[in-house]
This record gives sequence, C-alpha cells and structure tokens, in this order.
Amino acid sequence: MRLDKYLADMKLGTRSEVKKLIQKGKIKVDGTVIKKADFHVSDGAKVTYLDEEIDYVAYEYYLLNKPKGYYSTLDYSPNVLELIDSRRKDLAPVGRLDKDTEGLILITNDGQMAHKLISPKSHINKRYYVITDKLLPLDIGKDLEKGVDLGDFVSMPAVYEPIDEYSCFLTIQEGKYHQVRRMFEHFGLTVIYLKRMSFSFLELGNLESGEYRELTEAEVEALQNV
Ligand code: URA
Repeated sequence: MRLDKYLADMKLGTRSEVKKLIQKGKIKVDGTVIKKADFHVSDGAKVTYLDEEIDYVAYEYYLLNKPKGYYSTLDYSPNVLELIDSRRKDLAPVGRLDKDTEGLILITNDGQMAHKLISPKSHINKRYYVITDKLLPLDIGKDLEKGVDLGDFVSMPAVYEPIDEYSCFLTIQEGKYHQVRRMFEHFGLTVIYLKRMSFSFLELGNLESGEYRELTEAEVEALQNV
C-alpha cells in the first residue's frame, strides 16, 4: 500500500496533509525517513510519525447502543460516528435507524460484510422493543405475523411477543424505511418508543445508551457466515 494512503487511512490527516508530513521528513518506515508519498509499505513494516508507531488497522467492527436524537445518516449531525473513537476514517453504519430510534447498530468499514448484512436475502432477524400510544389490539399479533399490506409493499411475516397492553417485541427480517412504525400505524397506533434490541445473534447486553464495544473476532467470523 502507498505510504500516503496508509497514513490517511489511519487518520493522520487528509491525503494532501499527509503528503506534506512525508515531504517534511516526519515519517519513517522501518527506521528510515521516507520522503516519497508513493513509497510502497510492505506488510509488517513499522511506520512512525515523529517516532510514534502508527499501526495499520484494515477493518473495524463496532456495536453501538445508539441514543435517541442521533442520525445514522452521516450527512447530518449529531451522527452515530461522532460517538466512536475509531482509528479508521471510512466507517459507516450497517443499515439505518431513525433519528428517534434507540438501540443496536453495527458500524464498520467492511463494505462487503455490510452489503451482505443489509441484503433481504440474508434474512437477518432484527428484534425491536415497541411502545405504542394506544392499547395494542388483542389480535394484532396474528395480523403482524401474517404480513401487513403497507401499500408499496407487504411486510414479510414478523414475530410478535406481547409484553403488556402498550408494549411488545417485534422481530422482522426486512429493514424498509420506517418499517416498524408503519406496521403499527397500519392499525391506527403510533409508536412512541422504539429500540432495537438485537441484530442476528448480537444483543445490546448491558451497553448504556451512547456506549459501544468492538466486536470480538468470533463475532466477526460468525457474521461473515450468516
Ligand atoms: N423501523 C422503524 O420504523 N424505524 C427504525 O428506526 C427501525 C425500524
């Protein structure tokens, strides 16, 4: 990999900023000052800036408990990436949660994995905790489980778990825009609280709102095989 890309990927600066650092002789590779931006950094080489080592991290995977009020679209602020102290500059959320939805969202720069996880063909279960503004009709579960005609599409069968008169868990495999809210609106109910509890085998666990953790190697490997 080119030296300027290596440094820019690791957030030392923009491509032109790191080129200047290289020209000024501030970067060493394996102990030698390198002044060429297109220098090829081989695997395992030790790269330093002002004698501090800069490790190269190819992929990062985070599980965040997204707080209400944060965007999962990166064009807006505050967004979910602002909560993560990452090494790479190219992270992105896997799929979307509405600004007002809380809960589990994955964040990675592994585009291939993200693409696979958001594909409807992967049939990933996403379990939501839902609170509605009005009493949940007794037979709503039956209808949600059958699939709901939302006009532009019919939702795939969901799994409904009632909790009390106003709250339930709903597990769906799709991820259409505002899907859970729209499924309840179909029955005249407004979702007043929505939280994603799990994504495939990953659970929020005891992460507080706004907290995150890195996925373990075993979790990454398991996600690659879902
Ligand atoms: N369904 C919604 O309506 N909103 C979300 O954020 C996620 C699922």
